[in-house]
Amino acid sequence: MRGTGRSLSLCAGLVLSIATVAIICEGGKITVQARCIDSERQALLDFKQGLEDYHNTLSSWTSSEEEDCCQWRGIKCDNKTNHVVVLLLGARRDHRPDNIGHDYSKYFHDFDYYVIEVPESKFGGEIGSSLVKLKSLRHLDLSYNDFSRIPEFIGSLTRLRYLNLGFNPISGTIPSQLGNLTRLRFLALDRADELIADNLEWLPRLSSLTTLKLGTLTLSKPADWLQSIKMAPSLSSLELFECYFPYKVATSSLSHINSSNSLRALVIKHSKFHPTAIPWLLNVSYNLVNLTIKHSEIIGPLPNSFDSMRSLENIDLKSNKLEGGIPKSLGNLCNVKSLDLSFNLLNDTLHLIETLTGCTAKSLEILYLQGNELVGSLPDLSQFSSLKELRLADNKLNGSLAESIGQLSNLEILEVSSNYITGVISKAHLQKLSKLKGLDLSFNSLTLNFESKWVPPFQLFSLKLSSCKLGAPFPGWLQTQVKLINIDISKSGISDNIPDWFYNLTPKLINLNLSFNSFKGILPNFPLRYDIYPVIDLSSNQFYGSVPVSLANASALIISNNSITTFKLFLCTEVSDRPTTFLDLSNNMLSESLPDCWMHLGKLRVLNLENNKLSGNIPSSLGSLDQISTLRLSNNSISGILPSSLKNCSLLRLLDVGQNNLYGEIPTWIGDYLTDLIVLHLKSNRFYGSLPLSLCHLSDIQILDLSLNDLSGVIPRCFHNFTPMIHGVHDSDSSAFVDGIDASYIIDQSRGYGRIFVNYEYITWKGKNYKYDKNLRLLRIIDLSSNKLSGEIPTNLTNLVELVQLNLSRNNLSGTIPESIGKMKLLESLDLSHNQLSGKIPMGLADISFLTFLDLSNNQLWGRIPTGTQLQSFAASDYSENRGLCGPPLNVRCCGDGELQETSTSCETGAGRNVEEDDEEWVDMSWFYMGIGVGFGIGFLGTCGLAWYFNTSWRRVYFNQLLNGRRWRTSKYGARLRRPL
Ligand SMILES: *[C@@H]1O[C@H](CO)[C@@H](O)[C@H](O)[C@H]1NC(C)=O
Ligand SMILES: *[C@@H]1O[C@H](CO)[C@@H](O)[C@H](O)[C@H]1NC(C)=O
Ligand SMILES: *[C@@H]1O[C@H](CO)[C@@H](O)[C@H](O)[C@H]1NC(C)=O
Repeated sequence: MRGTGRSLSLCAGLVLSIATVAIICEGGKITVQARCIDSERQALLDFKQGLEDYHNTLSSWTSSEEEDCCQWRGIKCDNKTNHVVVLLLGARRDHRPDNIGHDYSKYFHDFDYYVIEVPESKFGGEIGSSLVKLKSLRHLDLSYNDFSRIPEFIGSLTRLRYLNLGFNPISGTIPSQLGNLTRLRFLALDRADELIADNLEWLPRLSSLTTLKLGTLTLSKPADWLQSIKMAPSLSSLELFECYFPYKVATSSLSHINSSNSLRALVIKHSKFHPTAIPWLLNVSYNLVNLTIKHSEIIGPLPNSFDSMRSLENIDLKSNKLEGGIPKSLGNLCNVKSLDLSFNLLNDTLHLIETLTGCTAKSLEILYLQGNELVGSLPDLSQFSSLKELRLADNKLNGSLAESIGQLSNLEILEVSSNYITGVISKAHLQKLSKLKGLDLSFNSLTLNFESKWVPPFQLFSLKLSSCKLGAPFPGWLQTQVKLINIDISKSGISDNIPDWFYNLTPKLINLNLSFNSFKGILPNFPLRYDIYPVIDLSSNQFYGSVPVSLANASALIISNNSITTFKLFLCTEVSDRPTTFLDLSNNMLSESLPDCWMHLGKLRVLNLENNKLSGNIPSSLGSLDQISTLRLSNNSISGILPSSLKNCSLLRLLDVGQNNLYGEIPTWIGDYLTDLIVLHLKSNRFYGSLPLSLCHLSDIQILDLSLNDLSGVIPRCFHNFTPMIHGVHDSDSSAFVDGIDASYIIDQSRGYGRIFVNYEYITWKGKNYKYDKNLRLLRIIDLSSNKLSGEIPTNLTNLVELVQLNLSRNNLSGTIPESIGKMKLLESLDLSHNQLSGKIPMGLADISFLTFLDLSNNQLWGRIPTGTQLQSFAASDYSENRGLCGPPLNVRCCGDGELQETSTSCETGAGRNVEEDDEEWVDMSWFYMGIGVGFGIGFLGTCGLAWYFNTSWRRVYFNQLLNGRRWRTSKYGARLRRPL
């Protein structure tokens, strides 16, 4: 109502001021509007005093007498009484796109895209008791803030009908005064920090309450609180988030509690309970219509307890650990419309479908079984005549897709991606599916055989055919699909030019993926609608030419692995309000100097230009990318120094400028300003001088690669301050992978969908680079090799006990190997070769049981190689060219009691020569993937939220790795792999 002032002045002659009511002239109409009561304005100002207003959201709340508090942000007054009735200070923003015209989320459910809230206003501090003076307050929303306590005075706000304190880090006991709010209809205390409730005895007193949301809550006396829930007279919807019922429930405790008659919906998320608690929970009401128990680790088969639940319509048991099939009693329910059993461990396909062919088959409209372990071929589903949505992705189904699927004429969504289905999909499969809107056949071994002139009976919104065989020509029938918002025909064997008619489809697209085909010709200048901001992936094709300016409206633009030569025009043309957050032009033939127009791409978060022929200096305008978190410029011919404007890029987490011609000293501002860095690659440039101490401020660093430069001086003693290398990165720290090293998470804030781009790293292993793209956050690497560093290895470097790879080879380091090196228990790779290290090999080295790669050659070491399973299994060459090492694996016996004198050489000649040739063939990175994969999997079970997405998709990647990595053998411990024994 900021326009009020203007309206007032426009027709000032008509405005009368009667008491506190304003009569306002707007658009010729006179309306009566509330004006606030002085005492309530004061109460609100007092309330504001106690708040911490992080984003200055309440700037409109000022003490000026003229101010009408009814016009303040978040306030609504009653038009008759002038009392404040509504206070809305919840920070939640719903970002749903209005401009696409339908519910897109159904078609983007596959976790590439999802909606999140982006809080733009947030409050902390105290919920001040002056609220009590707002005698008529009916609606109070303080959700998504930083409040930590439920004040007891809240029980005095007896007019409240709506109270939302959800998504606040509240801890402590729920005050029983809540029981005084007898008019309350809606109460949310969910997503708290840690609430405690011995009982919910206040609950039955809330006689008007229909909706209750609770969590995070430990329920200490389960029987009592269940009783309270049953006794709440009007409660129809109960939602429990992160609630713990760690108790075994005796069946006897079930019978003598009557069930509630009012409860219709029970939603349990991210909770844990003993399996015996399920029948007991279900007993809460026989009138349940909606039952949701998801992300809750229900283990084993579902109990057969659904007999009396005749009203059930929607059942959602997604993301648990349900095994086997589903109970008979569930298949006999005649009202079930929606059954979501996705992301469980169900494997008995046939039995599952048979169980459902009871009464449920006729009513079922939605069946989600994706992300299970279903095997065999898909049974005939034609009995499920009402089926609208069928999702079977991410299973192990094989055989061909029966044409009977084409009988399901109500089908709107059909998804069978990521199975082992083979054969040909023809018109017969789809000819009757006139209502189809979403089709996903990706990642099978399917061939699509439609004639190019085919006119399908449907109009799709979403088509995903990745890895299907479509044949060389561009699929002509797509021309008829004018409603498409999502097209993925990546990896489908197309070798053609883009037809002209395709340009008519692109202005509607949210997502276009043409990657991994053989598209030819000049990079197309697709028209993109400016308010849609699509994700465009044209990577791994044969496009050439320049990046067209029309693609400036993409939020993510991926054109890597083509033959693009220039992007200067794209970058330097002024286009208002560019949305691009992700730009990948890596592995092209860009052969120009880096354009100096980066100020146009202010929203960029990820920029990848590696493996091109870019030259010239790094332009200072790159420093205007103040949102950037990943910057990759490696393997170009960029020269000059790192411009100091880059210190404005303070959100950088990954900076890779390796393999260029950069020179100069390593700037101290890197450590002073880029303190969020997780990965820093300066490798293979011409940096000289000593290592700046400011690097020690990079407390989040996990990968530090300064190898192959001209750095001199000593390794700073403070190089032990790197937190992740000391304490590791905990899996519960989900922020690390949501937008960090494992993945870049791109979100379009205006429309609230995001996409995850999995990050990667190159790991150097015996001089070769390996691309590594899984669980990066578990990597901890220091590589200072091939410089001119001198002095000793600082002893406290061994405090970095989480370090996985340490490479100090090819320097002038002297002194001994720190005795405490055995503390670095997680080291998998240690290279100290080609230095001047002297003394004996510390005994502790034998304790590092994960060590898989070791090179100590070309030093001044002497004495017995400590005995332990690991050290003896390395090749002799890993110890060669030292002063006098002896004992296995060297073919050199140690003298006497095994201790060589420093001055003596060995007892036998041929010291340190390699016995067996090092078989390069066998050196591959599988052990690395494996070891980390296993650690990751175990640490992962306890997390929730986004975790379940990664859990499934990476589970697949991980097993692919298993299938493909044929060249290794497992050690006796299973997970850790080594060269062949
Ligand atoms: C009071 O009147 C205004 C203007 O007619 C209206 O927008 C507002 O919703 C009304 N407030 C309430 C609480 O009914
Ligand atoms: C609120 O409830 C408590 C008990 O839970 C009671 O002692 C107190 O008097 C009540 N307060 C009001 C204002 O009704
Ligand atoms: C049950 O779920 C459906 C679908 O999500 C929803 O439309 C309906 O309002 C819910 N019913 C109750 C009683 O919560």
